[in-house]
Formats: sequence, C-alpha cells, structure tokens
Amino acid sequence: MLTIALPKGRIAEDTLALFKEIFGKDFKFENRKLILESEEFRFLLVRNQDVPTYVYHQSADIGVVGLDVLEEKELDIVRLLDLKGGYCRVAIGMRNEDEFDLNKPDIKVASKMVNITEKYFASKAVSPEIIKLYGSIELAPLVGLADMIVDIVETGTTMKENGLKVVETIMESTTHLIANKNSFIEKKSEILPLYEKIEEIIKRDEK
Ligand code: PRP
Repeated sequence: MLTIALPKGRIAEDTLALFKEIFGKDFKFENRKLILESEEFRFLLVRNQDVPTYVYHQSADIGVVGLDVLEEKELDIVRLLDLKGGYCRVAIGMRNEDEFDLNKPDIKVASKMVNITEKYFASKAVSPEIIKLYGSIELAPLVGLADMIVDIVETGTTMKENGLKVVETIMESTTHLIANKNSFIEKKSEILPLYEKIEEIIKRDEK
C-alpha cells in the first residue's frame, strides 16, 4: 500500500482526477476527513507547505507539491516527475511608484518564503532584513513594513489590485511528484508502475 500526501485544494482535486483516469475508480475524501483509503492507496490531505515534511519523515511514501515549496523546504527527497500543473512564479513585488534598486541601503523584504528569499539576495551579494510573514504578503509594502516582497504570483491579480508590480521573477514553479528516499527503494515495485502511468498521461496531455 502506498501512502500519498496531497495538498488541500485544487492540486489534490487534480491529482485524484488523475488517479480516477488511471484506475477507473472514484477517489473522494469524505466530508472533513483527512485520510482516504482504497485497496491500493492511502491519501493524506495536508497543508501545501507540509507535503515535503510528511514525505521526508516517511509518513507518506510519495506526494504532490509545487517546486516552490520544495525549494523553500530544502529537504532530502526524491523528485520523481514534473506534473506540469499548478504553474506559478516566485517573484519580487514592489509598489508601482517604487524603483527596484538593490544598491539602496537597509532593504527590507517581507515573505513567507524565507529560504528562497535569502538565497536570491545572497546570489546578488545583498543581505536585506527579511521579515517573515504567513499570508497577505502584499500588504507589507503598502504600510511601510517592507520595501519589497517575495511572493507567489499566479494570475497577478492580487499584486495588481494592491498597486504592486513584479520587478523580478526568482523562479517558476509547477507541481512535482516526490518520494521518500527509503520508500523509493522499499516500494519501488509499487512506485515505478504508478510513475510510468502518470508520466504517460502528462506526456499525452502535453501534445
Ligand atoms: C498566494 C500568494 C498571493 C496570491 C497570488 O496566496 O501569496 O497572495 O496567492 O495569486 P494571484 O497572482 O493569482 O493573485 P494564497 O492565496 O495561496 O494565500 P496565502 O497568502 O494564505 O498563502
């Protein structure tokens, strides 16, 4: 039996739809339940940012999560396959009227993605003050908490509606199938056929 961690929301829905297509069965979480068991699979419904943690500690054998979360978590996990879904960017945003100048002194950056932020600025030889937030990041530059933000941009609507502009894209992200290192060895005979079936569909849909 494979245990699969899925992030609550659209990615879980899309993944369960993919499993339905492959196995011809309906996989559906009952109201408020966090575990869904079928004959071959046990699905866990977790917070997006927690998927790598469940997989790293082998509470789940495999999982589906965005590359942005993997980069932020920096855990030793097998990246099996780019599922090509859930496209978004991790970008730097500033108020429309502000200028992006990394030479300015005392730069403050607000983000929930502290590691990605730190790495990006280190690569530019800049060490800003990084202010960790947990949501509504776009608010920070509007009230003077930060000069800029590092945040997820999907449609760009949230930044636009709040008078912010993207000044730099740090990385692009899509959903990835990941595996625990030990599970990948111990349960190879279950993981590989599943991997191949999913890959087949991803390739077909790409055409
Ligand atoms: C993310 C991100 C932005 C928004 C971007 O937040 O932090 O606020 O989505 O989407 P858009 O470009 O399509 O407007 P999310 O909704 O995941 O909530 P969170 O801040 O609670 O993580």
